[in-house]
Amino acid sequence: MKIAFRLNGEEVSVEIEPRHTLAEMLTRKLRLTGTKVSCEAEVCGSCTVLVGGLPVSSCTYLAYEVRGKSVTTIEGLEDRAGRLHPLQQAFIDEFAFQCGYCTPGMILAAKALLDEVSQPTDEQIAANMDGNLCRCTGYLPIVKAVRSAARYMGAHA
Ligand code: FES
Ligand code: FES
Repeated sequence: MKIAFRLNGEEVSVEIEPRHTLAEMLTRKLRLTGTKVSCEAEVCGSCTVLVGGLPVSSCTYLAYEVRGKSVTTIEGLEDRAGRLHPLQQAFIDEFAFQCGYCTPGMILAAKALLDEVSQPTDEQIAANMDGNLCRCTGYLPIVKAVRSAARYMGAHA
């Protein structure tokens, strides 16, 4: 089947099988390899992307369900000049990753939060991102990075 949707701001159409997951379509068909798959069971959040601005686990979300919708992956966060999104920059500045496998999903989950709550408390950050697991960094730098990006975005709105 052929589906059309908006991907990182561009209209695309892709030939898929109905059984394909969104992660499979993104990484294998469209070669957007920033989306990382780990548990494949909607537990770890590493495969998080945004559909209609909301975080979904792309490892279990079926690709055809994005027909007519808007999808954002980590590749879509840079601006047109190629500058990193403030969340991406903050994760670098705050050393909020080690292996980096969870990082695209973390950043997209954080983006969904900041789109709703511009200056979240640490408790709100932890509560909203508790579906995203990190096996190596520890969560304190991640929370700090989200807070720092929120401050930056607030100051440059
Ligand atoms: S790989 Fe999708 S939630 Fe873990
Ligand atoms: S940075 Fe390695 S799993 Fe999070």
